[in-house]
Amino acid sequence: MSIIEGLCKRRGFIYRSSEIYGGLNGFFDYGPLGVELKNNIKQAWWNDFVHGRDDIVGLDASIIMHPNVWRASGHVAGFSDPMVDCKESKLRFRADQIYFAEVKIDGHTIGYVSVLEDEGMQAEAEKKAHELKRKKGAQGELEPVALKNYMEAKPGEYDLIPSPATGNTGTLTPPRDFNLMFQTYVGAMRDETAVAYLRPETAQGIFVDFKNICDTSRVKVPFGIAQIGKAFRNEITPRNFIFRSREFEQMEIEYFISPEADWKKLHREWIDACKKWFVSIGLPECELAEDVHPKEKLAHYAKACTDITFHFPHGLQELQGIAVRGDFDLTQHQNASNKNLEYFDENLKRKYLPHVIEPSLGVDRTFLAVMTAAYTEDEVPNDKGQPEKRVVLKFSPRIAPLKAAVFPLVKNKPEIFEKAKSIYERLRRRWNVFFDASGAIGRRYRRQDEIGTPFGITVDFQTLEDGTVTLRDRDTTQQVRMSVEELIWHLTDKIDGKI
Ligand code: GAP
Repeated sequence: MSIIEGLCKRRGFIYRSSEIYGGLNGFFDYGPLGVELKNNIKQAWWNDFVHGRDDIVGLDASIIMHPNVWRASGHVAGFSDPMVDCKESKLRFRADQIYFAEVKIDGHTIGYVSVLEDEGMQAEAEKKAHELKRKKGAQGELEPVALKNYMEAKPGEYDLIPSPATGNTGTLTPPRDFNLMFQTYVGAMRDETAVAYLRPETAQGIFVDFKNICDTSRVKVPFGIAQIGKAFRNEITPRNFIFRSREFEQMEIEYFISPEADWKKLHREWIDACKKWFVSIGLPECELAEDVHPKEKLAHYAKACTDITFHFPHGLQELQGIAVRGDFDLTQHQNASNKNLEYFDENLKRKYLPHVIEPSLGVDRTFLAVMTAAYTEDEVPNDKGQPEKRVVLKFSPRIAPLKAAVFPLVKNKPEIFEKAKSIYERLRRRWNVFFDASGAIGRRYRRQDEIGTPFGITVDFQTLEDGTVTLRDRDTTQQVRMSVEELIWHLTDKIDGKI
């Protein structure tokens, strides 16, 4: 992760928020290249799921909504994570991210060890168990270290489990619920009646506007409403760079279906459609997997939920959740608002509250997945034909921040410079392209490789004779000559996917 984080900072993709003031944990700024990549991801999603389908319409609801929305949805009462404080270090942890084990020798407990959830936590716990044995001067064979979640600790064990921050016992509190919603006040009053919340998901805006959309557009069940927008969660332990942050963006669809529809079939179709989309933006299929939530772990209103997971640098983790939520949300809002939200089905000739399938995806998490998949270190020949190490981001041309870079081979030949400039001006009318005239041509290629620009266009002496340019492919470094017209056809095909 640190390699990707370093590259993101160095090349202007992502900075820590408010960095000159020491940063603010869980908040990030997207720099010049980051904002382009992020916009391209959102645009690709919107094009494919909204413009590309007849059964999905868009919405952009407000971030701050009536507080009753969050009472009805259950977020005020229940959108919380279990939190644990370390009284000594003053650090806070999510209880479900702390793991502990009794350290036993020949059936006798000599103490406890604790670790934070991580791919390597078993090995770390075993190492700590050996250290404890050595410190205590205990003899005999250690029993296997069996990690348990802190949520399973018995009250008598809280004082015996060492803090993952200090290693000392007696400093961890029992877990308690911490609501993740950020609060604010609307209007001049600062009392309980003015409390409002920054939305923790975009989905509720869709449910609350369901009736408006049915009444004002020609949608018919089954249909979906899609929304892209900011969401805020006061995560107890934001971590793993932009994977879990406090301010992030979501791309969510609520797909409304009849209560009698074959939801299992539709759920499967949505999982497949979402996986296909990930592949279309450059995530290798082999890096994606599915995590089917067991029945006993489902929310009480959910019939099923499958996460699409991805091999992030910190392990196989949730990228997108695809839940079957029944009619829970519409029922809650209908009851709380006293407004009839039923849909009249002309085919069935009756009214009902539709059920929903909810593909819910984080933009920032998609960004991290795209970065992870694109990051490659390889060797290519330099200007002298000798192998040279390079870092290259192999973004799909569709979402690459810069689509092409135009290079005049030499700077001091005005005809070459002007010709390159004119090609650049022509291309930039359609795509985000870059002009670079400084430095050796090999160095200019490398700079673009590291930020994932898929095509390099070089204008040289031959261009002045026959109008052709060289087109260099970022991944293979192969170069081919073509006319400017052919170049534009080629780029259209590769970037927009159609001619
Ligand atoms: N409406 C359903 C919902 O919000 P979720 O599983 O809590 O479900 C959906 O969130 C997606 O939003 C996740 O799969 C993830 O991609 C993204 N997400 C959730 N919390 C996040 C966070 N703190 N930082 C970044 N992305 C997050």
